[in-house]
Amino acid sequence: MAENPLAAIRRFNKEDIKKILKIEQQAFPKTPYSKGTFLSYAKGLPDGFLVLETGTDIAGYIIFDMGGHVHSTAVKPAYRRKGFGTMLFMHAVSCVQKRLWLEVRSKNDSAIGFYHSVGMKTVRRIPSYYSNDDALIMILDDKS
Ligand SMILES: CC(C)(COP(=O)(O)OP(=O)(O)OC[C@H]1O[C@@H](n2cnc3c(N)ncnc32)[C@H](O)[C@@H]1OP(=O)(O)O)[C@@H](O)C(=O)NCCC(=O)NCCS
Repeated sequence: MAENPLAAIRRFNKEDIKKILKIEQQAFPKTPYSKGTFLSYAKGLPDGFLVLETGTDIAGYIIFDMGGHVHSTAVKPAYRRKGFGTMLFMHAVSCVQKRLWLEVRSKNDSAIGFYHSVGMKTVRRIPSYYSNDDALIMILDDKS
């Protein structure tokens, strides 16, 4: 994807929290991370909690650790299908020496479609990992 001159990826800072909570509520209305969870990620993974800024707005975020585990990612509905999710994901790929991996709800077709589009493969299914769904473990196999 061509670089988008209107979008910049940077570390989360505390002033972003309101916008991140709004994105979270829209992306995961039933299971949003709390303010405390985001602030604790910011403290524990300062290099792995990134936001994508476009103009004065924040279009999305990604949280990952240096072991390659993607803890969460979301893009605001109004900014979806514009390549921002891919920009965040590929930025994480460039930051981590390990292969990126994650768990995703097996019924989350849109996220699974997105992860396939960036080259992830399903390697395992964990029944009832979530209270009402199985988890798929997906891995990006580009650094083996
Ligand atoms: C998953 C998510 C982060 C993708 O963000 P995005 O900015 O829309 O992604 P991109 O624009 O980079 O999409 C790249 C490609 O992924 C695939 N894709 C994205 N959304 C998709 C969808 N709803 N259904 C199927 N494929 C999809 C497409 O191939 C897309 O390319 P295209 O638009 O040219 O067809 C976003 O949909 C989101 O925030 N979802 C809710 C939160 C969530 O489920 N997060 C993951 C939890 S594990």
